[in-house]
Amino acid sequence: MTTTTELSFLHRFKPATEPGHPPLLLLHGTGGNEDDLLHLGRMISPASAQLSPRGKVLEGGMPRFFRRLAEGVFDEEDVRRRANELADFVDEARAAYDLAAPIAVGFSNGANIAAAILLLRPEALAGAALLRAMVPLQDPPAADLSGKPALMLSGASDPIVPAENAKRLAAMLKAAGATVEHRVLPTGHGLSQTDVALAKTWIDQL
Ligand code: MLT
Repeated sequence: MTTTTELSFLHRFKPATEPGHPPLLLLHGTGGNEDDLLHLGRMISPASAQLSPRGKVLEGGMPRFFRRLAEGVFDEEDVRRRANELADFVDEARAAYDLAAPIAVGFSNGANIAAAILLLRPEALAGAALLRAMVPLQDPPAADLSGKPALMLSGASDPIVPAENAKRLAAMLKAAGATVEHRVLPTGHGLSQTDVALAKTWIDQL
């Protein structure tokens, strides 16, 4: 069953149905909400607990996790503030629901805030599946991501995320010590069945 408790983000929470599976932090894309990725989460790790917040920033009424100045141009001061705010929420939710550090599963803007949390507050996450992510901070502080697994799935014909940008994020995470698997799929910005299959395989082997 999905429940919502009063914490600092509006969110859905679904407890695990079996022990031994990592909790998932589900982070939607621009214009999405806390319901968007519940189905994806169930497909890639059916027995995991799910924690799914709604982004607090509104862009023309569409929820996001941080402000942007234009498509692909981020307000980096806001990225820092919002990544810390979301990491604080993860800490709160872990205490409220008795959870291990989650694996973030983020799409687009949700993937970008997950990457920012990895770089700014690495202890908040056990790892991350970043679907159509780009570099969230041009000059992040040195982070220690040793031992953190990160899956990046990019689209070869993504009109929003340039190939070079996704590569740069993969390199940034690797340089910080993360174990990065970066795959470029023959698709655009939208998710495909291949994303689901690859994310499931990746989570299953954690
Ligand atoms: C989006 O539309 O969400 C962009 O692709 C990514 C972002 O703005 O964070």
